[in-house]
Amino acid sequence: MTLSYDTLLRLSERIPRYTSYPTAPSWRVDLSPEEEAARQARLPSPASVYVHIPFCVEQCSFCACNQVVAGRRDAAARYLNALDVQVRRLPLPEATHPIARMAWGGGTPTWLSPEELSQLHGLLTRRFVPMDGAELDVELDPEITSSAQLQVLAQLGTTRVSMGVQSFDAGVLEAVGRPQRAERVAAVLSEARTLGMRGLNIDLMYGLPRQGLAVFAQDLAETIRLNPDRIAVFGYAHVPWLKPHQRRLDAFPRPEGEERLQLFLLAHETLRGAGYEPIGFDHFARPDDALAVAARERRLHRNFMGYTTRPDLEQLGLGVSAISEHHDAWFQQTSKLSTWWRQAEAGLPTLERGALLTPEDQLRKHIINQIMCNLSLDFEDLAARFDLDPPMDLAPELASLAPLEALGLVQVTPWGLTVTEAGRLVVRNVAAAFDPGLAAPQRAPRFSQAV
Ligand SMILES: C[S@@+](CC[C@H](N)C(=O)[O-])C[C@H]1O[C@@H](n2cnc3c(N)ncnc32)[C@H](O)[C@@H]1O
Ligand code: SF4
Repeated sequence: MTLSYDTLLRLSERIPRYTSYPTAPSWRVDLSPEEEAARQARLPSPASVYVHIPFCVEQCSFCACNQVVAGRRDAAARYLNALDVQVRRLPLPEATHPIARMAWGGGTPTWLSPEELSQLHGLLTRRFVPMDGAELDVELDPEITSSAQLQVLAQLGTTRVSMGVQSFDAGVLEAVGRPQRAERVAAVLSEARTLGMRGLNIDLMYGLPRQGLAVFAQDLAETIRLNPDRIAVFGYAHVPWLKPHQRRLDAFPRPEGEERLQLFLLAHETLRGAGYEPIGFDHFARPDDALAVAARERRLHRNFMGYTTRPDLEQLGLGVSAISEHHDAWFQQTSKLSTWWRQAEAGLPTLERGALLTPEDQLRKHIINQIMCNLSLDFEDLAARFDLDPPMDLAPELASLAPLEALGLVQVTPWGLTVTEAGRLVVRNVAAAFDPGLAAPQRAPRFSQAV
């Protein structure tokens, strides 16, 4: 069945546009730092570490990330020093802890100089020891990343880099205040490849000012020409009540409604036509890329950083605004830089908010992840993991999927649920049926007793 624009538009409006990860329990600001320290003290091995580097040279008007424009270079030394204090004091089970994955994100980690990147690696590996085959991912802005930085990153064991590009169009880049040369994007990609890094990713955005269908088609064509291993295609999230600087974009026309949806469909059509396999709903990968292999083998996971091939590792988040994801809790560090480094330098907790997951929250998180990553739910597996009878205990949620089933977007059988290829485009709607924060089906009273 072909989906009409009308239907897709209606379905996509049911999910807040800026939600790419259905919400789970509400964050709480009243958690004691001891709750977090207790999780750190029993961190399973191996773990994953995320480090947030908030600095950028300039602020792109669309940006919704936690970032600051640091006028002074000495901000780096102060930030690294505060991180060092924090890392040394972590109450890990042992003096050193094995990790299977480390990711540096931002902001822009390559705002740090080559020496500072080495220093960051040094302070982290005093406590966290990468296992054989560990992934080290770094997010970078091609315009400010030099060959010297890439070489140092390779020496430190970086396995892949992900670069923000968003658009190649001069008019779009001007409107969003992002100076960027296409030659720099190509050079960074080819140097990273020559240095042995794989799984190289380009982030594109759609729905930016002046980025109509013709411009976006060019953005896609240029990206395909560069042949990255992975491409992420993010719909521009306009959230000026959270990020007031985005109001600068209101001076320009921006694709909305059906045009925005056409951009999304164009990305799917063009990238699939060029041989990329869709991963979830907003990522694409070459068929031989580890992410595509994991997707075919239904081993994908998704965390706050996006899709990953690693098993469901607990993740420690370090640095301003960083999120830690434990199996039974989430914690977020203070998102205000001045507060974060004052507290971190003084050896004080930097926790801002968190959520303790009940067994039911954990079940829903698992279900949502399975649907978002692997586009399916296996009732037998679910029954074994959570001691429940899915067809019965999830009956209201499954029944609420009937309209999507009638459109051929999802299939429910006594053995499980499968999102169809057409349904991939609205996989968040399917996942949302199991998210108590987004959908409100009548829940069977037996359900929470069974887990
Ligand atoms: C931390 S940033 C990228 C790294 C680097 N600072 C750069 O800009 O090249 C991560 C990605 O988030 C995406 N992003 C930022 N703001 C967004 C928004 N308002 N809506 C959707 N995606 C956004 C962009 O695609 C960006 O590349
Ligand atoms: S998109 Fe990247 S470079 Fe631009 S402000 Fe955001 S984090 Fe900084």
